[in-house]
Amino acid sequence: MSRVLIPFPDLQPLAVDLAARLNARVAPVGWRRFPDGESLVTLDPQLSGVDVVVVAGLRNVDSVALALRFVAETARELGARSVGLVAPYLPYMRQDTRFHPGEAISAPIFARFLEQSVDWLVTVDPHLHRNPRLDGLFSIPTRHVAAAAAMAAWVQANVPDAILIGPDSESAQWVGDIAARAQVPFQVLAKIREGDRSVRVSLPDPVAARGRTPVVVDDIVSSGHTMIETLKHLATLGLPPATCLVTHAVFSEDAYERLLAAGAQRVVSTDTIPHPACNAIAMAPGLALACESLLAERTPSLVAP
Ligand code: R5P
Repeated sequence: MSRVLIPFPDLQPLAVDLAARLNARVAPVGWRRFPDGESLVTLDPQLSGVDVVVVAGLRNVDSVALALRFVAETARELGARSVGLVAPYLPYMRQDTRFHPGEAISAPIFARFLEQSVDWLVTVDPHLHRNPRLDGLFSIPTRHVAAAAAMAAWVQANVPDAILIGPDSESAQWVGDIAARAQVPFQVLAKIREGDRSVRVSLPDPVAARGRTPVVVDDIVSSGHTMIETLKHLATLGLPPATCLVTHAVFSEDAYERLLAAGAQRVVSTDTIPHPACNAIAMAPGLALACESLLAERTPSLVAP
């Protein structure tokens, strides 16, 4: 088999599904820490001439990044023909400008770190805001898998009378897309951020939302404040309890529990970040198509011109 998929531990279920779709052998990373905290990674040594696909969950990127680099470099040293990365959640994308004097602009720095490690990258719905395109940030080939079709299918199957609500103007791109695919209306709230953990929002046309079940859609829930403020605002309008639909369930600290406490009827996410209660939308099918297209670019055609 000329493809080997190397999953980091936390994304095993997604990786097994992906490996089956790519017809790849699975060779998990052996990863342990020495008493001083340094990492030792160990790979299957049979990598000569194969295309390696590393699958890494980067929710806790600061604790994984160095091991990821060790894995990629070691795979190459063991003879891998190519080393690609599937990172279903791409971190640091929100730090895409210098918000205060002297701050690091982390997004392009982290992009350079990844492209020094791997030959190509596949991710799901990166937070593209001031950097409108992934290939403007990376010089290696990249594919951006959109979760919109799968999220729209979930809405159609589970909340057919939905009105989708985007908590801020940045969300308009994916909320509008999902709403069009699910054939339901949507609105985008005005959002005023008053600090790291403080935002205020308002729905532009509450009358049009009556009789519909609100589904609040965002690409990332981190602290949960954006969603919670939205839930609180919707409650003041007398709408039924909202469902929260999120691509990347980052959930800092107890964000998931606080969403439920704030009145969310349920919280649903894709499986880009493992979460036992809310992962309901599988991204392996889309990731497999994206990997196939990148692997095909690296495979010389067997058909004579
Ligand atoms: C911001 O632009 C994103 O789309 C999310 O709305 C934001 O990252 C959510 O963060 P938090 O959960 O901390 O409010």
